[in-house]
Amino acid sequence: MIGIDMVSIIRIEKMIERFGNKALARFLSKKEIALVKRPSTAAGFWAAKEAASKAIKTGIGKECGFHDIKISKTQKNAPLIKYSKKIRKKFMIKNTEVSISHDGGFAIAIVQNSVKKKNK
Ligand SMILES: CC(C)(COP(=O)(O)OP(=O)(O)OC[C@H]1O[C@@H](n2cnc3c(N)ncnc32)[C@H](O)[C@@H]1OP(=O)(O)O)[C@@H](O)C(=O)NCCC(=O)NCCS
Repeated sequence: MIGIDMVSIIRIEKMIERFGNKALARFLSKKEIALVKRPSTAAGFWAAKEAASKAIKTGIGKECGFHDIKISKTQKNAPLIKYSKKIRKKFMIKNTEVSISHDGGFAIAIVQNSVKKKNK
């Protein structure tokens, strides 16, 4: 279960300029917003959540909203990602890995899930 997404940083920057904190709150929690110091980070988080929604083959929508995916950081600034309990249960997700990068005006993220083995 793998997903990828790429997003234009200026698109996110304009969204923040126009709608301020409300734009961030649409796809990030308060804790996540506190981690955002630059638009590139916000764009990376957006890409990471879109990629996570692709990894479970739903996309962002009714089944899996932006707030069903939570991002945090390690002490070394590496991103960590986790789905809500509802999603983890439904898709039998054991563990989720994410990697984020930005360059040339774009942010890109890749997400990979490992799933629980079914009981035989
Ligand atoms: C940290 C490092 C992986 C970032 O790579 P980069 O090519 O400069 O930048 P990229 O755009 O590809 O990646 C940046 C993203 O990598 C992620 N990242 C940062 N540190 C990371 C780490 N230790 N492990 C995994 N991912 C990391 C973050 O998501 C970051 O974006 P964000 O902070 O906006 O969320 C790289 O600079 C590096 O290895 N540095 C060596 C350690 C270092 O110098 N640390 C600086 C503090 S002394």
